Amino acid sequence: MAIGVFDSGVGGLTVHHRLVERFPNADFVYLADQANAPYGGRPGEEIVDLTRAGCIRLFEAGCDVVVLACNTAASVALRRLQQTWLPRYRQQLGRPVNVLGIVVPTIEAATGLPWEHEAERRGEKVEKLDVLAVFSTPATARSRVYEIEIDKRRQDVAVFSEPCPELARMIEQNAPRDDLVRVVGEHVQAVTTRIGRAPDRAILGCTHYEIVADLFQAALPAGVPLIRQPDATADALALYLGRHPEFRQGDGGGRRFLTTGRPGAQHSLVETFWGAPLSFEPA
Ligand code: DGL
Repeated sequence: MAIGVFDSGVGGLTVHHRLVERFPNADFVYLADQANAPYGGRPGEEIVDLTRAGCIRLFEAGCDVVVLACNTAASVALRRLQQTWLPRYRQQLGRPVNVLGIVVPTIEAATGLPWEHEAERRGEKVEKLDVLAVFSTPATARSRVYEIEIDKRRQDVAVFSEPCPELARMIEQNAPRDDLVRVVGEHVQAVTTRIGRAPDRAILGCTHYEIVADLFQAALPAGVPLIRQPDATADALALYLGRHPEFRQGDGGGRRFLTTGRPGAQHSLVETFWGAPLSFEPA
């Protein structure tokens, strides 16, 4: 049995990498749906269908738990799949399986509060506003999940979403660094102009952006903290698996990488952050 990690492409490897460090003996299967990437400009129904297909592939590969290491899939599809598909699918499969996301751990990290906590609305005057910029795909931005869920928990945090329609594709296609620097800079500038000043903190709300976190850090004023999804997700998964021993993680240290796209080596950006070349098999 194994832990599955799903993304439209290579972005989820940033989360996978941290999970592997946290659970070195567990067996992992990573699935990149590169034939259909990027997801961020697709209609919601397509994102739901593609995410369901990815989960099924990972459960068939022996995973008990699938982590959606993709904000777009997690914010658009996860609740739908948990409510309308998973209960029946579990019965068909005859074993306990679950799908977990990346948005809840990120919101817990951003608010410093457990997910169950919702703020009492007392209408008190907020003295100091903590301004949080969220860079994401258009589909994640359209879902407004970060604005809605953070607002329920913290009245002193204002969320400004900045959709970056071209960035995941550019990272997936290994675009030249100068082009990435320019596009990241334009988005940081755009959100700064909208806020009227620089944000106090930022979420890289697309796992692809974590691969170029250094460019975001350089474009933002010095010292603006980035909320790191890989760390937040690893912490949340450790707690979850501790509470749910019925989901088995395996103990062979297996690492499989599947793609619906072109098998073989991935590009150099991946190699740089991973520390070694990675070779993918057909899904
Ligand atoms: N890496 C994904 C995310 O976190 C998806 C990017 C895309 O396919 O557009 O949103």
